[in-house]
Amino acid sequence: RGKKAFIAGVADDQGFGWAIAKCLAEAGAEISLGVWVPALNIFETSFRRGKFDESRRLSNGSLMEFAHIYPMDAVFDTMDDVPADVKDNKRYAGNEGWTVSECAAKVAKDWGKIDILVHSLANGPEVQKPLLETSRRGYLAAMSASSYSFVSLLQRFGPLMNEGGAVISLTYVAADRVIPGYGGGMSSAKAALESDTKVLAYEAGRKYSVRVNTISAGPLGSRAAKAIGFIDDMIRYSYENAPIQKELAATEVGAVATFLCSPLASAVTGQTVYVDNGLSIMGLAG
Ligand code: NAI
Repeated sequence: RGKKAFIAGVADDQGFGWAIAKCLAEAGAEISLGVWVPALNIFETSFRRGKFDESRRLSNGSLMEFAHIYPMDAVFDTMDDVPADVKDNKRYAGNEGWTVSECAAKVAKDWGKIDILVHSLANGPEVQKPLLETSRRGYLAAMSASSYSFVSLLQRFGPLMNEGGAVISLTYVAADRVIPGYGGGMSSAKAALESDTKVLAYEAGRKYSVRVNTISAGPLGSRAAKAIGFIDDMIRYSYENAPIQKELAATEVGAVATFLCSPLASAVTGQTVYVDNGLSIMGLAG
């Protein structure tokens, strides 16, 4: 039977989440998505109007389908966490059951057990500010959306996972080395995510017999990355200085994600796997 994958953090066909969905679909998996609530309407409209059809095309000619598309906001665990201004916001008011716990309950009801859980989301409202100028609120928001969201997802979806399942997230080298421009506490959030990958690999490995890894990806001109501002410079820098001098394709990350979620990687857990054309090994610009 095909494996079932729930992917949180897809809102267009440009980012890593979409590419992972596509590679998993190529490998025979069924896919459901968790889409950020404020982005859901435009995603569904674009989807219906065929805007993604070209990117949905699989190698056998068919179009990638999604079993379910759920609204989700990964900074809220239960409805009790949601402040009134969000509840009343018109982009949220039309949707229901989008906190992490409610979303997991819907997946359990509609779909039963899953095999693969993908966290491909991040948000840092002050990402353009140096850490030295970041507010407490901005820092904690980055941690909440980009790090705790992963703990929360695994907490709520772990019980739905079949033994032998796999969980992955996306991280960035700024966790480990200084990347000027990646501010607002986003570097801190990625450091937490990488450390949590180890602790959660241990805990969820023992509790659910699932593996937990994170992919440290090279620069990609996704919507989120464009919001940071320096992505074109990063892509150029990587092209000039990485061992492999080519632009990173999102599908190269999708392929490694598919490997990590497959039985080929049955002994790999708790790891940060770099998929960055090798840029991270360089000590000096080449
Ligand atoms: P993206 O824009 O395709 O994906 C980010 C997604 O997060 C969006 O779909 C957005 O709607 C969603 N999101 C934001 N806040 C959310 C929330 N509270 N609840 C639910 N969803 C929320 O961009 P990209 O770049 O593909 O990002 C995916 C992951 O890859 C992120 O973790 C990012 O940090 C990581 N990454 C990206 C790199 C890049 O150069 N683009 C490099 C290394 C890692």
